[in-house]
Amino acid sequence: MSAPSMTLYYNPASPFSRKVLVLLHETGQTNRVSLKPVNVTPVNPNNDLCQENPAGKLPALCLADGNVLHDSRVILDYLDHQHVGNPLIPREGSARWRRLTLASLADALLDAAVLIRYETFLRPAQKQWAEWLDNQQEKIARSLSYFEQEAVTELSSHFDIASISLAAGLGYLDLRQPDLGWRSRYPRLGAWYYEVCQRPSMIATQPPA
Ligand code: BEZ
Repeated sequence: MSAPSMTLYYNPASPFSRKVLVLLHETGQTNRVSLKPVNVTPVNPNNDLCQENPAGKLPALCLADGNVLHDSRVILDYLDHQHVGNPLIPREGSARWRRLTLASLADALLDAAVLIRYETFLRPAQKQWAEWLDNQQEKIARSLSYFEQEAVTELSSHFDIASISLAAGLGYLDLRQPDLGWRSRYPRLGAWYYEVCQRPSMIATQPPA
């Protein structure tokens, strides 16, 4: 087996990092990437990471030729072009735009959930902005409702960019908002998520408890 030619800056709790890890497992590319865990928050940047990605954000993928890719959407697109199996991002046609749009909605959910985490975990309680938090939470609720009502059948058809992104988001909600109770409000999504959690790629990338 050859040595990994790429390095991934990641954090095991980051849902954006998890998207990349799941795709690496699904496409049989884990041995091509060495993993560099970093702890980073908006108020605690990591110097090594900032040199590779000036935005200081995870994940970032350093390629063998010295180029660095970010963010997670760009990395997933790149890695999906590096394997010979079925693409996890449809290359053309209406499926491409539909699955990318579902992935974008899942990413919006991830963004809102991570921002809520920063606001509630990092920001002093007396400075927290309740109305802003409520609106982030409503963004999550609207997204979940859309997936439940409009997309769960489509999601079940392929485990691809859209499914990976939503699965990473639901895993993150379970990690950081364990009392949210989303499964009772979105039971079809709960059943779908239960199934996808049996996949080796999801088991291997579970965030730390
Ligand atoms: C978290 O611990 O929730 C987290 C870590 C890295 C990136 C985003 C979120």
